[in-house]
Amino acid sequence: MLKNKVALITGAASGIGQAIALTWAREGARVVVSDINAEAGQQTADLVRDLGGEAFFLQADAGSAIDHEELVAQTLRHFGRLDVACNNAGIGGAKAATADYPLDAWEQVLRINLSGVFYGCKYQIAAMLQNGGGSIINMASILGAVGFAGSPAYVAAKHGVLGLTKTAALEYAVRGVRVNAVGPAFIETPLIERLKQDEAAYGQLVGAHPAGRLGKAEEVAELVTWLASDKASFVTGSYYPVDGGYLAR
Ligand SMILES: NC(=O)c1ccc[n+]([C@@H]2O[C@H](COP(=O)([O-])OP(=O)(O)OC[C@H]3O[C@@H](n4cnc5c(N)ncnc54)[C@H](O)[C@@H]3O)[C@@H](O)[C@H]2O)c1
Repeated sequence: MLKNKVALITGAASGIGQAIALTWAREGARVVVSDINAEAGQQTADLVRDLGGEAFFLQADAGSAIDHEELVAQTLRHFGRLDVACNNAGIGGAKAATADYPLDAWEQVLRINLSGVFYGCKYQIAAMLQNGGGSIINMASILGAVGFAGSPAYVAAKHGVLGLTKTAALEYAVRGVRVNAVGPAFIETPLIERLKQDEAAYGQLVGAHPAGRLGKAEEVAELVTWLASDKASFVTGSYYPVDGGYLAR
């Protein structure tokens, strides 16, 4: 599905990002693997090569505009073009109700989960316009569409990702850059590990998914891969939940 495409992914050292990198490689893309965690990020690039794919790792802080600019510049230097990007890096942030939410935690979550997606789009779009277009997938969440008590910064950032996605899609649709967002429900990755500490609350969380289970990173990767591909050539400005029915209630 992605034969010969050059595809960049942030937050690819773990969880959903790693599953996307591996799925893209299986589909024939040349993958730029990026993460703030160099050791684990290198391992993802190694896994891509183990599959017979082509990958190189670049360390970058998704919350830094300069790092995004450099990431795109290095991609162009190495592969000569950029066709696909997924702004996936994100953190859960502190858990506290709005009145108690620490100011520094708010700043950190907004910097990585929202500003980071803007920085990514800004430099990725400019590069894609040089070769006639491309596809960007921004990682939102079901919490880009509904609230979740105790996570005001995360929910606000993910709602912001939807607004940014729609706006960038409108701006560049006619020039061939598609921009979409995906909204996973709760997915089995290290991000939600600490939610398992409270067994009763975790049981309730699973019960909130009509499918009766949490999702798998690979199930998100399949949707992202389709959006990245030319099969989705008329799809832009949209938000696709991948949520076992969570938002249907
Ligand atoms: N797991 C879920 O339930 C779930 C649900 C909806 C959306 N998401 C979103 O999916 C994305 C990936 O989450 P995940 O579950 O795979 O989490 P994860 O913790 O397994 O992986 C996140 C990756 O992002 C990296 N990262 C963190 N801060 C970074 C930074 N500043 N710069 C670059 N990389 C950074 C981490 O090193 C890690 O490799 C996030 O945007 C998250 O909000 C996750």
